[in-house]
Amino acid sequence: MKKTFFIILASLFSLGMSAEKVEIHTPHNSLVLDIWKGGEPKFVYYGARLSESDLASLPNPTNANWSHLEIYPAFGATHTQSETAFAMKHVDGNMSTQLLVEDYKKTPITDKAPNGATRSGELLTITMKDPLYPNIVNLYYQTYNDVDMIECWTDITNNEKSTVTLTQFYSSVLPIRRNNVYCHHFHGSWASEAQLTAEKLNNGVLVIKNKDGARNATSDRQEVMFSLDGKGQENSGDVIGAALMYSGNYRIMVDTDDSEFHYFFAGINPDNSEYHLKKGEKFTTPHVAYTFSSEGLSGASRNYHKWARNYELRHGNKERDILLNSWEGVYFDINQKGMDQMMADIASMGGELFVMDDGWFGDKYPRKVDNSSLGDWVVDKNKLPEGIEGLLRDAKKNKVRFGIWIEPEMANTTSELYEAHPDWIIKAPGREPVLGRGGTQVVLDLSNPKVQDFVFGIVDNLLTKYPEIAYIKWDANAPVMNFGSQYLSAAEQSHLYIKYHEGLIKVCERIRAKYPDVVIQDCASGGGRANYALLPYFDEFWVSDNTDALQRIYMQWGTSYFFPAIAMASHISAVPNHAVFRTTSLKLRCDVAMSGRLGMEIQPKNMTDEEKALCRQAIADYKTIRPIVQFGDLYRLHSPYEGDNLASLMYVSENKNKAVFYWFKLETFKDEHFPCVKMAGLDPNKQYKVHELNRIDNKPLDCEGKSYSGAYLMANGLEMPYSHIVDHNKQNDWSSRVISLEAQ
Ligand code: DGJ
Repeated sequence: MKKTFFIILASLFSLGMSAEKVEIHTPHNSLVLDIWKGGEPKFVYYGARLSESDLASLPNPTNANWSHLEIYPAFGATHTQSETAFAMKHVDGNMSTQLLVEDYKKTPITDKAPNGATRSGELLTITMKDPLYPNIVNLYYQTYNDVDMIECWTDITNNEKSTVTLTQFYSSVLPIRRNNVYCHHFHGSWASEAQLTAEKLNNGVLVIKNKDGARNATSDRQEVMFSLDGKGQENSGDVIGAALMYSGNYRIMVDTDDSEFHYFFAGINPDNSEYHLKKGEKFTTPHVAYTFSSEGLSGASRNYHKWARNYELRHGNKERDILLNSWEGVYFDINQKGMDQMMADIASMGGELFVMDDGWFGDKYPRKVDNSSLGDWVVDKNKLPEGIEGLLRDAKKNKVRFGIWIEPEMANTTSELYEAHPDWIIKAPGREPVLGRGGTQVVLDLSNPKVQDFVFGIVDNLLTKYPEIAYIKWDANAPVMNFGSQYLSAAEQSHLYIKYHEGLIKVCERIRAKYPDVVIQDCASGGGRANYALLPYFDEFWVSDNTDALQRIYMQWGTSYFFPAIAMASHISAVPNHAVFRTTSLKLRCDVAMSGRLGMEIQPKNMTDEEKALCRQAIADYKTIRPIVQFGDLYRLHSPYEGDNLASLMYVSENKNKAVFYWFKLETFKDEHFPCVKMAGLDPNKQYKVHELNRIDNKPLDCEGKSYSGAYLMANGLEMPYSHIVDHNKQNDWSSRVISLEAQ
């Protein structure tokens, strides 16, 4: 193989073609590629922004100890022994492809970002062609002028005589130089989403993937961070982040062979998804968003957060309401009086929005538990005789906004929808459907345009009839459990996974075109759809059905690697927790929820006056720090995954005038010793006044009301007592602090 590689290079040079180093950059990052007309484009450099002289002196990639640095290797003509990004079967049955550069260009662009904001940057387009076939493959790299993010993707146009078959179609490949590199990725399942796993890259292959069909963040996540020089540090060290922006099945692979590099591949999972591309058709892969930071893992997270708030997340720069969701409070036990009561209760605690969750719908088959009615989006008149009108009237009376839960992509076999359209569900022709939640749940086939119209119609009907609805919780509680489309042709069956998500995005686009303002939560059995393909249409996502404050510290920590606090719905709930049955203190539950987008998920009727008072205080205090949490820069300080029973993080406002510091003790052992956590991100020259929020102690902290320089706080931190100074009968084993810092 090495020999072949050498011969190709030698022949390229003998043909007089010269390699050109092409640089694209963001404010602090440079990506350099070597592009030959008639050759394969190669990777040269990705890292901190280069000066012109360093750029000119960069080494030639062909000298890198025979590493194979092609950035989009195609299978068969040359690349047969190494992993490839692309493979196809041509009309004549030939399975080999060679992608050589025809041309490339860099163009400044100003366009609409996915969330509707205007963005500017540069687009590098590399056009490649197989010398034997007329197909065109374009490789794109798009930069941003104001955030350190480069998106990469490809498209292929079939210019052959008839249909070709794509069997591998990664979005992007990035070589990463070996040097004790660690990969940080996020494992999970229902109620334990985004669990951080950090592992050293070794020889062999690391594969991270999802095959759920519908909810691709319900297992492992499609975002990874690489610390380039040893185990990742939160606030120092070089880090590359990569987020695949796709809502369907994906595959991420890091292949480490005997060269000097690890090879990162990310894209649509090709398993059972070979794609038949008709003559003249174009197939576009999802984007991968890359960042580089020399400020450690937290630095890379800040790049994602800024990019997300500005360009990806719907209404990313608008403060979120503090809400009460009915789910954990009443589950399916919805009724007019109960909803009115909950609205009054959240209003009395300072909340701004009430969301009625599952259980409000179904006429012929009323939704009493989870085994019926999905698809029948009409009010259950027995539960809600005055309909949504009555709920909106009560919301107005209680001075809160109103939101509603739907699960539009799903049906139950016990539903009027299924009786009318059994052909709308996903299942192989001739087979019985596999049934999910409640023993009757099925997934609607979004590859079918009629189903897309139906799903759009659910939102459209609600919002046309009731324009006062301010918030929609969009849930999805089933995977694709049996493969097959009753809509797609026999030849197109293998398109189902891909077409489902194209259909979903089309529906989301229609909704946002008509309803740009409504707030929509992205929920899928908890955090099953936290991904950057869907977030442009959603304002936030439900982190997990597990609202246990202790486990949330871990899950929110993992989630925060790629997603900003403004998008992380984090609710105060009852104890024992409904998912893990742990009893934590209300103070801890409030403090943890206050580190994300604060809400409540509880029956206030069952709370004591004292508990309500604490929540009222937490909500009032949260309002004072909401802009810092929701728009500020995150500094993770002490990881719960270190295993020493402590977690700490902080948010700092962009102008560094305000900050909020969180400190959580995770377990209590006698004679335990914690470090004094050093702060980060402050202005060393500013003096910050300390004030504890959500305080329960009988006496203030020693540092309360005092001022410290940013330099002191970052060098020393503040001592946090290991327990709360409260009356003996109120003592428990939890301890947490929320400290606000304000520059004088
Ligand atoms: C799963 C969601 O994650 C929950 O919050 C709740 O909405 C239920 N579905 C309702 O069925």
